[in-house]
Amino acid sequence: MWSGMGADFGDQPTKRGMQIFCVLLLQLYAAPARADAPLDYLFGAGPRNVASLTWGVLTISILVVLIITGVLLFAIFARRNRIPSTSSNERELVSRAGNPVAVIYAGLVLSTLVLFGVTIWTMMTLADIAAPPSTPKVTIEVTGHEWWWEVRYVGDDPSQTFTTANEIHIPVGEPVAIKLRSDDVIHSFWVPALSGKTDLIPGQINTTWILADRAGTYRGQCTEYCGLQHAHMGFQVIASPKEKFETWRKGQLRVASEKSVGSAGQRVFMQKCAVCHTVRGTPAGGRVGPDLTHLMTRGTIAADTLPNRVGYLSGWIADPQHVKPGSKMPRLNIDGQDLAQVRNYLETLD
Ligand code: CUA
Repeated sequence: MWSGMGADFGDQPTKRGMQIFCVLLLQLYAAPARADAPLDYLFGAGPRNVASLTWGVLTISILVVLIITGVLLFAIFARRNRIPSTSSNERELVSRAGNPVAVIYAGLVLSTLVLFGVTIWTMMTLADIAAPPSTPKVTIEVTGHEWWWEVRYVGDDPSQTFTTANEIHIPVGEPVAIKLRSDDVIHSFWVPALSGKTDLIPGQINTTWILADRAGTYRGQCTEYCGLQHAHMGFQVIASPKEKFETWRKGQLRVASEKSVGSAGQRVFMQKCAVCHTVRGTPAGGRVGPDLTHLMTRGTIAADTLPNRVGYLSGWIADPQHVKPGSKMPRLNIDGQDLAQVRNYLETLD
């Protein structure tokens, strides 16, 4: 694309330089937000009618701007050319030819019809998305914390219920019910590609639903300013085919595997981490921070702030306040050996 455009700017080095600079700047700013799962609502995978409305209204708005600009330019230049160059006293300021008021009526009727149409279309879309197309088979309780997301899958009985964090798995093509609560301040749940925003308000349960019509990873983000790390309160929604989702769900129902029971890492974890974190099937039962039973199945840590890879995991444990200043995870003053051991333990939580 750029090699083709190069010819246009070949003789204008300054303009070309500016062009390249602007593109680089845009790339620089867009890259982190776009990494694997962008916050994209124009090409969503949620209910089709919302995307159609967005594009429809956008197209109409662009047409209105173009038409009005055209008419305005015509009015300015056409009249100027027609004014005879006599002395200013003799200029005819308003043309009385034809019926100019009729044009105003026509404009009024046209814009009223268009706005009325858009209003009806919007109301029909709102009515459509007020409730899911069929009764959801999966219900997820999402609790907002400063600054992460607790995700609880509610099964038919307690043995089918489990908790995870910052990553929501859903089956493709099915509506999923989401119950939203907050543990502290007001947050807001938003997955641009799949749904509109719904607030999480302390002391009440709000409900919404999401539906992905194709498999993929969709980025979610808290969109209500909730304090220092509001921007680092992200999550991911992973939509997979039904069987894959079921495999994931069954995996999450398990307690932690036994491969690291009694290890040095587990002892360090019990001393330093277990007050805040749960690892099901072990004595670690803290409820302040995310459930870590299957930590290694998640793609990110610290609420979609860092990739879940060894180096980042070590850095996060060693100094969480450097990564997310103000977060509830304290600096543990952990020495190198303990850090390596606890990290090795965490790596067994798959
Ligand atoms: Cu939670 Cu912003």
